[in-house]
Amino acid sequence: MHSYKTALITGASSGLGIVFAKRLAARGVNLIISARRTDRLEALAASLRDDHQVEVQVITADLSAADGVAKLIKAVGKAEVDMLVNNAGLGQIAEFATEDVAEINAQLQVNMVALTQLTREFIGPMLKRNRGAVVNLASTAAFQPVPNMAVYAASKAYVLSFTEALWGEVRGSNVKVLALSPGGTATEFFDVAGGRLAAGKLDTPEHVVDTAMAALENGNRRASVVVGRANAVMAFATRLVSRSAVIKLAAKIMKPNGK
Ligand SMILES: NC(=O)c1ccc[n+]([C@@H]2O[C@H](COP(=O)([O-])OP(=O)(O)OC[C@H]3O[C@@H](n4cnc5c(N)ncnc54)[C@H](OP(=O)(O)O)[C@@H]3O)[C@@H](O)[C@H]2O)c1
Repeated sequence: MHSYKTALITGASSGLGIVFAKRLAARGVNLIISARRTDRLEALAASLRDDHQVEVQVITADLSAADGVAKLIKAVGKAEVDMLVNNAGLGQIAEFATEDVAEINAQLQVNMVALTQLTREFIGPMLKRNRGAVVNLASTAAFQPVPNMAVYAASKAYVLSFTEALWGEVRGSNVKVLALSPGGTATEFFDVAGGRLAAGKLDTPEHVVDTAMAALENGNRRASVVVGRANAVMAFATRLVSRSAVIKLAAKIMKPNGK
């Protein structure tokens, strides 16, 4: 991890993104942090510069906007990004028929399109330098369809499949690629999503990020890491029972607020 010079972290204004920024700054990695809420990014940048004497660039970008990714790439400029953490993401917990269309589009755009375009932008130079890492935030929701979270789960299934395939492409190089799949984690995610986990306990963002760091530092032997033993067992178990049974079980897990 010490060999990385500059990490670009999306969604660094909250939750997992803040912890990624702290953990990487503590390892002496310079940062480019991005999200929409500039005030939060500036406050984080100031504290990381003070605590760890690293350089931190703040870039405000809305990745759901048509020109969001291009703006972010332009602002990054010639900086040599050798670690990319595609962390920005959002979900909606609602019955699909009543889900807000703008929210559906934002999930598809941020979770899949922006993540793919940013990976495409930065992985080529990493491969040329034969050094780098890409961490893409999938989710335990990626391992089965999730009623009341249909779009989100499908978007994360995309992230998982895309990232695993990419791992398969770059394996011979010194570039690491990791799909990280946390279960429910105590961030602002559920406030934004408008619902709750009806079963299970929330993990801490620190545990999630430390799991990712360990997977990278241990050589990235696997394309995908599910955070937490129980989550890993559940993700594996989806392969052993019928798809319909899994969907019926998953339907009990995500509840919109007020239901
Ligand atoms: N928490 C969980 O239970 C959980 C479980 C599995 C996977 N994940 C994944 O983990 C990642 C981080 O989520 P979190 O739990 O840390 O949630 P969070 O606290 O809500 O943080 C989400 C981050 O994404 C950014 N973001 C959202 N919409 C954006 C947009 N249009 N443009 C740019 N940035 C945007 C937010 O920044 P601004 O609002 O300032 O733009 C924020 O920094 C997401 O990909 C999520 O799907 C979370």
